[in-house]
Amino acid sequence: TATTDGEVTDVLVVGSGIAGCAAALSAAREGADVLLLTKATEPDDASTDWAQGGISTTRGDPDSLKDDIIDASDGTADPDAVDTLVENAADAVEDVLVDTLEVDFDEGEDGGFDYTREAAHSEYRILHVDAATGTHILRPFLNYIDDHERIEVRQDTAALELITAEGRIHGVVSDAEPEGHPIYAGATVLATGGIGALYGRSTNPEGATGDGIAMAALAGADVEDMEYVQFHPTAYDGDDPFLLSEALRGEGAVLRNGGVSESFDSEARKTESSGGERFMEDYHPQGDLAPRDVVARAVETEREETGAVVLDVSPLEFEAEYPAIAEKCRNRGIEGDEIPVAPCEHFLCGGIAVDDRGRTSLDRLYAAGECARTGVHGANRLASTSLLEGLVWGLRAGEDATGFDPEPVEAPELRNRDPDLPDRFAAEKFTRLTRTMDEYLGLERDPAEIARASAVLRRLKGEVDAYVRTRTTRSLYELRNASVVALLIARAASENTESVGCHYVVDEERPPRA
Ligand code: SIN
Repeated sequence: TATTDGEVTDVLVVGSGIAGCAAALSAAREGADVLLLTKATEPDDASTDWAQGGISTTRGDPDSLKDDIIDASDGTADPDAVDTLVENAADAVEDVLVDTLEVDFDEGEDGGFDYTREAAHSEYRILHVDAATGTHILRPFLNYIDDHERIEVRQDTAALELITAEGRIHGVVSDAEPEGHPIYAGATVLATGGIGALYGRSTNPEGATGDGIAMAALAGADVEDMEYVQFHPTAYDGDDPFLLSEALRGEGAVLRNGGVSESFDSEARKTESSGGERFMEDYHPQGDLAPRDVVARAVETEREETGAVVLDVSPLEFEAEYPAIAEKCRNRGIEGDEIPVAPCEHFLCGGIAVDDRGRTSLDRLYAAGECARTGVHGANRLASTSLLEGLVWGLRAGEDATGFDPEPVEAPELRNRDPDLPDRFAAEKFTRLTRTMDEYLGLERDPAEIARASAVLRRLKGEVDAYVRTRTTRSLYELRNASVVALLIARAASENTESVGCHYVVDEERPPRA
C-alpha cells in the first residue's frame, strides 16, 4: 500500500557538497524553507571536502578560460554552458565565497589573492587554500547554512526513491525512521556527487555511489555523456590512494618514468636527481600540463613499459607549500621527493541532463554538481572547474526551484528491513561490480570487453532488483544505484565508438592530439 503521510518542505536538496549547499542557500534567500538531506554521518563527508587544487576564476581574460575549457574537452564542451559558467563565475565567487563565507584563500606577496595554475590552464587563475581548498570552502558553507533560519540540514538520511506522479517529481522516500517516510517538496534538487565507489581506486569518498543519477534515471530523467569517466593522472600508487593535485605540476613538479624504457632517446631529459626520465613531451606539446585524459593515459602506458611513474616534487617547496598533501605522504611512509603515482577514477563528466538553470527533463526535478551533466565538461573536464560548476549551477538551480507548492501524492512504500543478509549480499555484489568496471570500463575500452561488462552488469542488476523488491537497506539501495549507473556507463560506452576525451576506444587508430 502507498501512503500520503509525510513531511513537507518547499525545496528539498539531496547532498551536502558545494552544489547542495549553494542550492540550499539560494532557495532560502528567495524565501523558501529548505530541507537538505545527506546520507553522510558527518555532512562534510562529501567529495567537495576532498577537492584539492582550487576553484578557477576568470582572472584575466574570461574568453581565455572559455577557450581552455573547450580545448581540454577536445572541442566537445557545450559553448552555451561554458558561457553560463564563465559569465556567472565572478559574481558567484565574490558574493558567496569571498563576502558571505569569507573563505581564507591564500594570499600573494602583494596582499591580493594568490592564484595557482593547473594542467591545460593557460593562466594563473585558480584560487586555493594550500591544496586543501574544498575543506576550506565546505566547512564554512555548512556552518553557514546550518545556522540559516530557513534551512535544516539532516544527516545520516539517504534518499532511496523519488516520488513521481504524472511526470512530476514530488520529493523522495528516505530511510529515516519510520523507514520509507515520504518527504514532499515543491521541488527537489539532486546534488549527490559522483560515482567513485564503482571503481576499485577513486579519489572520491566511499559514499559516491551515483545515487542521484540512478534515482533520476529510474524515474525517467534524461542522462547524457555517461561514458566520460575522468581518471586523474596522479593519485598515490598504492593502497588507499589519495590525490596529488595537478596544482603540483602547475607549479613545477614533473612526471618521471621508471627510467628503463628503450623508447626514450633524449639523454638531456634525464636528470641527476632521478633514474627516471621525463616523458610527457613525447605525448603532447603541453608536456606535463597537457589535458588530464592525455596525461592519465600516458602515465598508464609508462607504468606498463617502465615499471613505475613518479611525481618529482623537488622543484617545489613541497612541505611548506603543500602541508596537507605532504602529511598524507608522511603517513604512508613516502620519503624523498618522488611520489609513486597511477591514474585513479576522479570525476564523471556526464550525468543527469540539465539546462542552464539546473532543470532536468522531469518537472520540478533539478540537478547540480557532479551528478548533473551541464555540458560544461564535454568529454574531459578542465581542472578546478568542478567546484565552480557546483557553485554556479547550485545557486541557479536553488533559485529556480522556489515558488512551487508541495503536493502530497501517493508515495512508494518500502519493504521491511532485513539487516544481515542483504548487507553481506551487497558487499559481495559490489566487489563484482567494481572488478567489472576496473577491468572493462576504465581508462581504455575495447568494444568486445564493453559487451562482456554489459552482460555481467545486467545479470548483477537483475539479482539486485530481486532483493530490493523484498527488502530495504541503505547498502542494497546503494548497490542498486551503482548497478544502474554502471549499466548507463556501459551502454553509453558501447554506443560511442569514437575515442574522444576520457572515452578511449583501443581498437581504433587514433592520432595524437595536437
Ligand atoms: C586537482 O587538484 O588536481 C584536482 C582538481 C580538479 O579535479 O579539478
